[in-house]
Amino acid sequence: MKAVVYEGPRNVAVKDVPDPRIEHPQDVLVRITTTNICGSDLHMYDGRTDMETGRILGHENLGEVVEVGKGVDKVRAGDMVCLPFNISCGYCANCERGLTAFCLQTNPDPNMAGAAYGFAGMGPYHGGQAEMLRVPFGDFNCLVLPENARDRDRQRDYVMLSDIFPTGWHATQLACVQPGDSVVIYGAGPVGQMAALSATIKNAAKIMVVDYHQDRLELAAKIGAIPIDASKESVADRVMEETNGLGADRGCECVGYQAHDASGREHPEMTVNSLVQTVKVAGTIGVVGVFTPEDPGSPDQLYKHGKAAFDYGRFWTKGQTMATGQCNVKNYNRALLNLIVEDKARPSYIVSHELPLHRAPEGYEHFDKRERGWTKVIMHPDL
Ligand SMILES: NC(=O)c1ccc[n+]([C@@H]2O[C@H](COP(=O)([O-])OP(=O)(O)OC[C@H]3O[C@@H](n4cnc5c(N)ncnc54)[C@H](O)[C@@H]3O)[C@@H](O)[C@H]2O)c1
Ligand SMILES: [Zn+2]
Ligand SMILES: [Zn+2]
Repeated sequence: MKAVVYEGPRNVAVKDVPDPRIEHPQDVLVRITTTNICGSDLHMYDGRTDMETGRILGHENLGEVVEVGKGVDKVRAGDMVCLPFNISCGYCANCERGLTAFCLQTNPDPNMAGAAYGFAGMGPYHGGQAEMLRVPFGDFNCLVLPENARDRDRQRDYVMLSDIFPTGWHATQLACVQPGDSVVIYGAGPVGQMAALSATIKNAAKIMVVDYHQDRLELAAKIGAIPIDASKESVADRVMEETNGLGADRGCECVGYQAHDASGREHPEMTVNSLVQTVKVAGTIGVVGVFTPEDPGSPDQLYKHGKAAFDYGRFWTKGQTMATGQCNVKNYNRALLNLIVEDKARPSYIVSHELPLHRAPEGYEHFDKRERGWTKVIMHPDL
């Protein structure tokens, strides 16, 4: 089959690789029809992880089940399914509690919890930027979609259930967003957009989104958020102005360790410190942007060892609460599917490019540069 393979920093290639096969009775094989490029793929693409060459990328996957293992009961060949980016077993102590991003069963590294498709440090699994994907624990991991998911147009919405819509939702859950709240969101990439959409669904009274990219800020404004261009105005002044000088009730971090200033220089602590500054006293902060225990390629001396100059004193004095981590997609994807089905949410508004799989190298290059108009790339191996 054809697949997008990581070949080294800023180098992906579409190659012929062996087809996946059923390796375990609970496996399911899925013919991928829609698969996205994610901001998380860019950490690997940029050479900022220990991703090995030859691995297939892609953790935002949707397609049709073509074969099921002997131990699979619920899912059947022909079902259209969306796969959470997390690979989880469903029966370990963490999965039992809904913490599927921290499954104790699926990552062979005893020092790590949680696994994902085509992801550095998250187990040996291949990704779905390919014609086919092997899905472990198929009954647990497949979200079976309605019949209209065969329609490629509908897939644009449904595929967002694999990661970024639940992850944006998770940011607002971690930040405890309630109806009537003011919320400041750092990052207007796909994840920040989905956090803004989620805050809208939760009836937040005021949603502010911070970034440098005009096109991304315009998209956030389209769904009713207040865009704040950090290259043009003081974010702190503007948030204070919008919140009667108090700061936002809630804050979401949707940028991660490659947070940078207007000149492009990376400061991994920048967004969390801005959150401490612009969220009110006793406010709550959710961090879904990725941070890593080691980052030898960081230009920041501290962060080479995963440490950051966090404004801890101010955070403590303000009595704020911060929650972090990968999204437990299974916790939310069924409810968010219902919102799409009932036309209460259209996450596809962020899709800017739909490409055949063989144009993946181009998709990566433009999305990595955050070029104007490249907000979300989805690919169709069957196009
Ligand atoms: N926790 C999870 O489960 C999970 C899931 C998916 C993605 N992520 C992470 O979420 C983050 C965002 O993903 P994405 O797909 O939206 O990526 P992205 O890189 O497209 O978007 C990040 C945005 O942040 C902006 N930005 C950079 N520095 C900033 C700053 N100082 N202030 C404000 N904005 C700034 C960039 O201009 C960009 O638009 C990444 O770290 C990704 O790995 C986490
Ligand atoms: Zn993703
Ligand atoms: Zn588990």
